[in-house]
Amino acid sequence: MIDAQKVKQAFPILDQLVNDEPLIYLDNAATTQKPEAVLQAITDYYHQDNANVHRGVHTLAERATHSYEGAREKVRCFIHANETAEVLFTRGTTTGLNWVSRSYGDRFVNEGDEIVISYMEHHSNIIPWQQLAARKKLP
Ligand SMILES: Cc1ncc(COP(=O)(O)O)c(C=O)c1O
Repeated sequence: MIDAQKVKQAFPILDQLVNDEPLIYLDNAATTQKPEAVLQAITDYYHQDNANVHRGVHTLAERATHSYEGAREKVRCFIHANETAEVLFTRGTTTGLNWVSRSYGDRFVNEGDEIVISYMEHHSNIIPWQQLAARKKLP
């Protein structure tokens, strides 16, 4: 059983009052708050290893690349992907959905197909599909 209070305590930013009320943050799709372990890992990285990933042969670049690929392997394991090559890091949802519509969509969506999305979608999950429909000349 997940202890919600313990999970909340892992996020230092939630330990404050906003408008005299305990902060409750629900805008995670836009910007997700980070737990202490992540904040510490980011701080450690910038203090010790910050360098170009996959584009250097010096020690810091090798360490940065090792950490980056280590994270990819952890994600692969977590989502039960077969290969690390299946794990792509993007800078956000909009970029990711554009990649999906331009790769999967361009390859597999054809004349006569319909693209169905819900009325609740954010722009990031509407525009890429509208653009795909236009490219494929779907009604
Ligand atoms: C509900 C929701 N979905 C998707 C997005 C797009 O996310 P990103 O900025 O990572 O492209 C946002 C951004 O604000 C959002 O609020």
